[in-house]
Amino acid sequence: MNAVERAVGGLMDWLNERAPGLMPAYKKHMTEYYAPKNFNLWYYFGSLAMLVLVNQLVTGIFLTMFYKPDAAQAFASVEYIMRDVEGGWLIRYMHSTGASLFFIVVYLHMFRGLIYGSGKKPRELVWILGMLIFLTLMAEAFMGYVLPWGQMSYWGAQVIINLFGAIPVVGGGLTEWIRGDYLIADATLNRFFALHVVALPLVLLLLVVLHLGALHEVGSNNPDGVDIKKVEDKATGIPLDGIAFHPYYTVKDIFGSAFFLTIAAFILFFIPSFFGMFLEPANFVPANPLVTPIPLEPVWYFKPYYMMLRSIPDKLSGVIAMGGAVIILFGLPWFDRSPVKSIRYRPMLHKVMIGLFVYAFVTLGWLVAQTDTPWHKLMGRILTAFYFFFFISMPVWSRMGTFKSVPDRVTTHD
Ligand code: HEM
Repeated sequence: MNAVERAVGGLMDWLNERAPGLMPAYKKHMTEYYAPKNFNLWYYFGSLAMLVLVNQLVTGIFLTMFYKPDAAQAFASVEYIMRDVEGGWLIRYMHSTGASLFFIVVYLHMFRGLIYGSGKKPRELVWILGMLIFLTLMAEAFMGYVLPWGQMSYWGAQVIINLFGAIPVVGGGLTEWIRGDYLIADATLNRFFALHVVALPLVLLLLVVLHLGALHEVGSNNPDGVDIKKVEDKATGIPLDGIAFHPYYTVKDIFGSAFFLTIAAFILFFIPSFFGMFLEPANFVPANPLVTPIPLEPVWYFKPYYMMLRSIPDKLSGVIAMGGAVIILFGLPWFDRSPVKSIRYRPMLHKVMIGLFVYAFVTLGWLVAQTDTPWHKLMGRILTAFYFFFFISMPVWSRMGTFKSVPDRVTTHD
């Protein structure tokens, strides 16, 4: 044993004596957490979501050092960060591009849950906590977008907060309470800043810890949807198809992160506003309560829901549809009555339904930017109806068709 090994060993002994719970927790979640050995590409997105979350927190802290949450100074302070603060442009773009990357990663992560039946028993709680993360993330992104106090910040807040006005009886009072004024103003910006910078990040962090805690209680699903705990080594009790999370999946995730960061860096350095999709052109103009920006559209990740709102002529019904489209996702583990988890062993009908669902969701987003012709309106209504039909009829169609037999072991076990 050399001097360095002796020093590290001594330090570990010192730590273990004072915090005896640390080592067992590390083992439970890392070196003795046995994850299925057949994870594929889809299983990168959980760790990538954590990576982007850390990016948002760190870059956010630096932005807060220079940003001014004051309606008279906010826009100029962001311009100051972009032009005069050393490296400020990079930090700001890492944060704004990071927000879009967060949604890309989380949408793909959720889609993986859909195709592999990951939220089905016994992982319902993992799914519910994931959905709470998604709701918090939407609120966090919305409030963050208001902070630069550009035209889209102002008018986006105007549209979204006014939606609460559609609620009968309490609507008027509620919008005023949210704004903290009779119109979107300094008070609104101040409270959004407090929520965006302190309250919601804390909630997000807590939810992510609970999400992973809930997952590690029951263990991970996998692309075959087989329960690896059913076939264990008799002597050790370790699943035969399981491998220790550390070092095997830490190495895999480091590779995935390096690949992801390469693409992220390319976007960041060459197309940070991503053709006006990540940062809309109107948001480079200071907020002006007298001029509505045209077109008035949310950022890409909210577009499908916004189109549902626009497709329904009655305001209250539109708001219910838009909110319902997110809330209905909570029920996925219970709507899906398929006897098998993974798409690999499901009938063609399931693949067609999921394919149509993706088409409906993406097309709804695309429709927002199209001219408001009767044809586009009709399409918006049909696709909105299909979105809800997909979930409501799932208990029926997810049981239909001929299922392939699921193997006892994961397919890569040889
Ligand atoms: C900040 C956002 C999130 C983070 C950091 C996060 C993190 C993770 C991580 C690290 C895993 C384990 C690795 C993996 O399976 O990929 C995981 C699994 C899972 N997550 Fe998330 N997650 C987030 C959001 C969500 C959302 C929005 C949902 C769905 C509504 C969700 C549903 C799930 C499910 C069902 C699993 C288990 C997957 C399986 O075992 O097959 N997560 N999450």
